[in-house]
Amino acid sequence: MSGTVVAIDGPAASGKSSTARKVAEELGFQHLDSGALYRGVTLVALELARVRGAGGGDPLAAVDPETILRSAEDRGLMLQPDGHGFSAYYAGEPVDDAIRSDQVTARVSAVSAVPVIREWINGRLRAMVRAGMDVVVDGRDIGTVVFPEAELKVFLTAAPQTRAARRLAQQGSSADRVAVAEEAERLAARDQADSTRSIAPLARAADAVELDTTELDFQEQVACIVALARSRGY
Ligand code: CDP
Repeated sequence: MSGTVVAIDGPAASGKSSTARKVAEELGFQHLDSGALYRGVTLVALELARVRGAGGGDPLAAVDPETILRSAEDRGLMLQPDGHGFSAYYAGEPVDDAIRSDQVTARVSAVSAVPVIREWINGRLRAMVRAGMDVVVDGRDIGTVVFPEAELKVFLTAAPQTRAARRLAQQGSSADRVAVAEEAERLAARDQADSTRSIAPLARAADAVELDTTELDFQEQVACIVALARSRGY
């Protein structure tokens, strides 16, 4: 038996993860954050590169993808259920903070462009749904590649300045004009890398509902997606 999938895709800091988590809670589903797995594999890659004395640079120049994935398997990179979502673990340690460090964020797009890494992560996501779990999954290619059969697909967007200000607020950083402009530049660089890669680029599925959240607050965007889900009988 396969579970039900609500797919939420969109660019960096469009509010996918926090929205997906709350939508999952309201529907009684689990929230699966595919980005957490991409970040987790990037953390593994950076650690292996550091052990090899190649810290700081491009981890893919120091370690091949098969070695990274073997380490992820052997040392148990995983998402473990916690209420309505999952927490990331590696080598038995919680890594939710570590996978959101600036260092990981700066390298994650490059690591995500490697086909075998995407296949490994997609396999994990699909296995959870095959096991019968009802999920809200957020990412870049969930509605296009990972679960193209999902009945409800949402593509979340927001103006770049809004996304930058929200991300800084989420990090507890000051959001003056210069900081917002700098963050918007970092987000734009990641969006550019994620949208132009040849494999599974960030793209809106033809049958996705596009939701621009620039003028919506958090409760409104959650309510909007929950209403779409309810209208499909979830
Ligand atoms: O939270 P934020 O939008 O900043 O990013 P994320 O969802 O944690 O994803 C981090 C990175 O993982 C993205 O910039 C993509 O490079 C990659 N990713 C991907 O390629 N495909 C996915 N389904 C999810 C994330």
